[in-house]
Amino acid sequence: MSTTTSDDRSFFGHPRGLSTLFFTEMWERFSYYGMRAFLILFMTAPIAAGGLGFPVVQAGAVYGTYAATVYLMTMVGGWVADNLLGYHRSVFWGGVLIMCGHISLAVPTIGTFYLGLLLVVFGTGLLKGNVSTIVGQLYAPEDTRRDAAYSLYYMGVNLGGMLGPIVAGWLAQGEGFKQILAGWGLPPSAAWHFGFGAAAVGMFCGLVQYTLGRKRMPAAAHVPLGATTPEQMAGSRRTALRVVIGVIALAVLAVLAQSLGVIHISATGVAGAMDFVLFGVVVGFFGWLFLGGTWTPAERKRLVVIFVLFFGALVFWSTFEQAGSTLNLFADRNTANTIFGISYPASWLQSVNSLFIVLFAPVFAWIWLRLGKRDPSSPTKFAIGLFFLASSAAVMMAAAMAASGGAKVSPMWLIACYFLQTVGELCLSPVGLSAMSRLAPARVAGLMMGVWFLAASVGNKVAGRVGGLFESLSLTTIFGGNTVVVLFFAVLMVLLIRPIKRMMESA
Ligand code: PHE
Repeated sequence: MSTTTSDDRSFFGHPRGLSTLFFTEMWERFSYYGMRAFLILFMTAPIAAGGLGFPVVQAGAVYGTYAATVYLMTMVGGWVADNLLGYHRSVFWGGVLIMCGHISLAVPTIGTFYLGLLLVVFGTGLLKGNVSTIVGQLYAPEDTRRDAAYSLYYMGVNLGGMLGPIVAGWLAQGEGFKQILAGWGLPPSAAWHFGFGAAAVGMFCGLVQYTLGRKRMPAAAHVPLGATTPEQMAGSRRTALRVVIGVIALAVLAVLAQSLGVIHISATGVAGAMDFVLFGVVVGFFGWLFLGGTWTPAERKRLVVIFVLFFGALVFWSTFEQAGSTLNLFADRNTANTIFGISYPASWLQSVNSLFIVLFAPVFAWIWLRLGKRDPSSPTKFAIGLFFLASSAAVMMAAAMAASGGAKVSPMWLIACYFLQTVGELCLSPVGLSAMSRLAPARVAGLMMGVWFLAASVGNKVAGRVGGLFESLSLTTIFGGNTVVVLFFAVLMVLLIRPIKRMMESA
């Protein structure tokens, strides 16, 4: 049924399966970034305008918790694929859950709002990490096309990231669509839910396309690689069943306790608890890695390198992912959203980063190739990435000063900021991904991919928290703070370049 596609070169010199995965991830990111483009704006919009009327602190907390759990769940999704469903089926069911989540979000009640977020969290956990693992499975171990495949795949990610906010953002916020709604006799305040609906339709397209391409998936994607015997399979089923029952029991207990008035579950309370969970996962994980694991001295050195890169990435995403929180609020409240006299929805600016990636990723691939032997090491690229990010934050500090009198500033500030962020992302993100897979001891390769997502998870959490300060701190303080913190870690990374290089060479 499935074919080994190693010799196939029909998709830009790559196996056809890559095209299926490219478009699956494109549609998934279309729905993720399309919805994220207006999520915080929807939560903070007044109820009369169809929003949830949340105070910005609560909206930031929910936003950060949602985005953080999405990426944290990829670790669970990896386990499910390895031990229970296999990669192919995990991706499929992940897509189904994501689609159901967006359908639920399209229903205008608070209950369906939270249920929708939860479904997207579980769905993305099953889909996102596993689809990127299948990309690697398309190639034989010695195939040199793998790096290029991931670059192409990153284009798919950002094609979706670019189109999603344009389509869903226009439906949710665009004046033109509000008039169309009025023409249909519907209130313009219902527009948000059409934005959520568009995300659901996008994921549906992705699923159809994925199902049609089923035969192009590598054989390894169809079986759980970690549970090959019937006993192992039964064991993982038992584990999964226990976890599911445990989670359901906890949820029922919580709802009961809430309705009896014993506890009071609030969005901000959950967000606070999540801070501790993430902190615990990070400390517990690296604690176990360094104290509990049995590693050779060479492996131990590599793990130290992984830890430093993890920390650099964490700092990077903490500021970078404010695109959906602080920067989105800035676009909505402090920016004159017109171009050549025509106004556009604030959420459209959420496309700019992805647009720049699509434009400049090939340029960067060319630069690294041209540099050949002088191609900078991973820690050097991380440091460069952090410097670019610090400069993007500095641009926003200047923008905040320009906006301090209540004036609406030019969108060029945000566009300049996103440009610098994108350059930083191109120095850090693809480099980090391949460094993780290169440095990880083979027997924990999957787990180390999880570490990469853990950095993104914590980063998103911090980004939500900072977004929550939007009304309580001055904007110059927020962006100035970002600048100083990132600059500090950029300098620290520069100081660490030599020792890390030495460790990488001797390991
Ligand atoms: N744009 C990237 C993506 O959606 C952001 C990201 C990087 C997310 C690393 C998770 C981990 O794929």
